[in-house]
Amino acid sequence: MPRYAITTFGCQMNVHDSERMHDVLRRAGYAEAGDPDEADVLVLNTCSVREKAEQKLRSEVGRLARWKRERPDRVLVVAGCVAQQEGERLLKQMRAIDMVVGPDNIPELPGLLGDLALGGLPIARTVFDTEAPRFLAASPPQGASGRAPTAFVTIMKGCDERCSFCVVPYTRGPERYRPSDEIVAEIAGLVAAGTREVTLLGQTVNSYRDPLGALPAAPGASPDDPDESEFAALLRRIAADVPGLARLRYTSPHPRHLTPSLILAHAELAVLPRHVHLPVQSGSDRVLRRMIRRYTRAEYVARTRALAAAVPGLSLSTDIIVGFPGETEDDFAATLSLVREVGFKGLFGFKYSRRPHTPALRLADDVPEDVKGARLSRLFEESEALLSAHLQGLVGTTQEVLVEGRDKERGHGGHGGALWSGRTGRHEIAHVEGAEELDLLGEIVEVAVVRANKHSLQAELTEAARAAARPRQRGGEEPGRPARRALPVLSAEGG
Ligand code: 5AD
Repeated sequence: MPRYAITTFGCQMNVHDSERMHDVLRRAGYAEAGDPDEADVLVLNTCSVREKAEQKLRSEVGRLARWKRERPDRVLVVAGCVAQQEGERLLKQMRAIDMVVGPDNIPELPGLLGDLALGGLPIARTVFDTEAPRFLAASPPQGASGRAPTAFVTIMKGCDERCSFCVVPYTRGPERYRPSDEIVAEIAGLVAAGTREVTLLGQTVNSYRDPLGALPAAPGASPDDPDESEFAALLRRIAADVPGLARLRYTSPHPRHLTPSLILAHAELAVLPRHVHLPVQSGSDRVLRRMIRRYTRAEYVARTRALAAAVPGLSLSTDIIVGFPGETEDDFAATLSLVREVGFKGLFGFKYSRRPHTPALRLADDVPEDVKGARLSRLFEESEALLSAHLQGLVGTTQEVLVEGRDKERGHGGHGGALWSGRTGRHEIAHVEGAEELDLLGEIVEVAVVRANKHSLQAELTEAARAAARPRQRGGEEPGRPARRALPVLSAEGG
């Protein structure tokens, strides 16, 4: 049986696309290789959103050239956004690559591999499925016990925004929406199989419209508002039709579509957790305009205030770009003041980098690299201080944690075992101490927060939670592919 391995770079959409590739390849008779170097087929699922991400691919292919030389029948596949962006050019530039497949061509992967095995030439397949969009479901990664507590469900793909810095409209194509019936059916199936939390995925997830036209207008929706979508209506339908779902998250929303109907859904639907990741990109109106973000700072603040008022205890996280063309010290100061004003509890910060096919290529990349670096450091100082104060403030409280898996790190205090860890309703990472002997995977447990770490909480089960928990059966609880589902850290990331 030929063996394959997939290496994933980039966003949750890419992580999910990799899950689909696992499915497609397994169904075609491939087996996953334990060690990527042992694979017959190696897929690099790439990201091109920032220059650094694209460089990663290039250095990885350089390294893999030797892997191929050892056994020339090995197949190197480049998938994802760099594949879509570069197409055939990749085959010409890097001879080690045998195949290039775009995000919409994943189902064709086994067929294309078959052609290659028969002696076919290297091939690039990067065609959008705009006429008949396909939304493949992916079976979530399974632990040995067969339970996967969290899963992604795609509800739309592509992007019709034209943010001037962003390559995604080019690499992911125009917006296409998945029929609401299909979305609900997939979520119901996942929940029946033990999934507790679903994250709805889309490049601008809250611009969703139902191609079936089957959703009743959501309360609070105003049909004349150009920013109105049917996202709130979809959330309501999921909440009503899949009552067994414990948590319903989504990523990434665009601030433009954070309309009153969505705010009302947050106020009324208990299944929506008290955390939203809402990329703002800059706190300066001048920069926001040049980024073509289609909202002002005041609009962003007003909308997030309304959301926070509707959902007590809500926390917000965001993405910010520093050093966008023309960004002055004053513009950057406005970004810092916005971070303080909104009080983000998590922040991903990036240095602007020029991307192909983007409108901002017409603007001079005029903020020097060292200034970008210094601004990023100041931004992180600000956000780390906010996160740290927030986490400290939670010490002594009780929280409900959905246990997602076990940490790779050793436990504190030298007792050795990997701790259970998961997320609170607000998305803080929590490590649960003193419960190594219990089976908590997929459980929502009540914990007492005993300590704040830099980016996470340290907690213990409450007495009631301990009394209700099951003892662990030996060897039955490890997640199947922890590398693909390691907990992302809610914190700053270098740009
Ligand atoms: N340069 C730097 N950061 C970028 N992002 C998107 N495009 C660029 C770029 N050209 C960031 C944005 C986005 C996140 C996924 O990546 O902050 O929200």
